[in-house]
Amino acid sequence: MPYKLVLLETARKLAEQHDFDGSALRQAIPYLEAFQGKKFVLKIGGSILQDERLIPALVSDVAFLKRLDIDVILVHGGARQLDRRMQALGLKPSKRNGLRVTSREVLELANEVFLEISRMVRDAVAHRGYQGVIFDRTSGLVRSRQKHAELGYVGAPVRVDAASLAQQPAAAVPIVTAITSGLEDGEPGYNVNADEVASAIASAVRAEKLILMTDEDGVKDADGALLPTLTGQQAEALIKTGVIHSGMIPKVQACLEPLQHGVSKSHIIRGDADSFINEILTDTGVGTEFVR
Ligand SMILES: Nc1ncnc2c1ncn2[C@@H]1O[C@H](COP(=O)(O)OP(=O)(O)OP(=O)(O)O)[C@@H](O)[C@H]1O
Ligand SMILES: [Mg+2]
Repeated sequence: MPYKLVLLETARKLAEQHDFDGSALRQAIPYLEAFQGKKFVLKIGGSILQDERLIPALVSDVAFLKRLDIDVILVHGGARQLDRRMQALGLKPSKRNGLRVTSREVLELANEVFLEISRMVRDAVAHRGYQGVIFDRTSGLVRSRQKHAELGYVGAPVRVDAASLAQQPAAAVPIVTAITSGLEDGEPGYNVNADEVASAIASAVRAEKLILMTDEDGVKDADGALLPTLTGQQAEALIKTGVIHSGMIPKVQACLEPLQHGVSKSHIIRGDADSFINEILTDTGVGTEFVR
């Protein structure tokens, strides 16, 4: 289809599904053109991940970006789903410093629960005419090593096989789960914070942007006001004073790291049906943006 027609369809979609008005559309088109041939890494989280009815809406945006030659690599965990499954089985989740103590049994359960989410995303991608390709712990895409002996099968990413992503056919949409491979084939793999997985991939593929979705609008200051922009220094200071704490610490660090590896910007945004498109296609964006 001629590019102009695709743009027209795009404008219609943005107006109908995301309430873009004339001025928002005028903002969006230059971004769509500038992002042609670029890659985004998106960690799916927040309500999108908790309410599976919202996944098709997000995937429909990913598909329309693909038509404009913009690739989105999807990464997800599924902590809440795993907690629920563990409870149903009478297993008690245990955490240390925000990290889940992962026995072999919990690792297998997490792998199962996360793969169910991967398959759901893959089906939504297929419904849009693209091919969702799941990268699980057997893929060797992300290889991790153990973080701390006391946490069991919790890992930290060491290597990303960017070439295996580059070899994917044009119609492929990568879907990466947070249960990654170990350093050697045949290992059971590791449970890794999905923010860290997304961060490692963004650096390895030199993504245009890394976007982490969560259940908050972004990083908030001590008074609870949203911080639209943060530098590394500002973020470190907020971690020291405890304004940024718990699960927000690895998230912020995951955003800062790729800025040292050629990624232009990282973002923490609320995971809802409109935030991804609003972040990449509007001048003001949404959430918190991290800059060098
Ligand atoms: N300064 C801050 N601004 C905003 N949220 C913060 C801040 N400091 C800590 N938080 C907490 O960090 C949480 C986000 O991290 P969390 O790890 O819980 O979620 P997630 O990474 O999106 O999901 P999951 O880890 O379950 O996959 C927020 O819900 C909030 O409670
Ligand atoms: Mg988290």
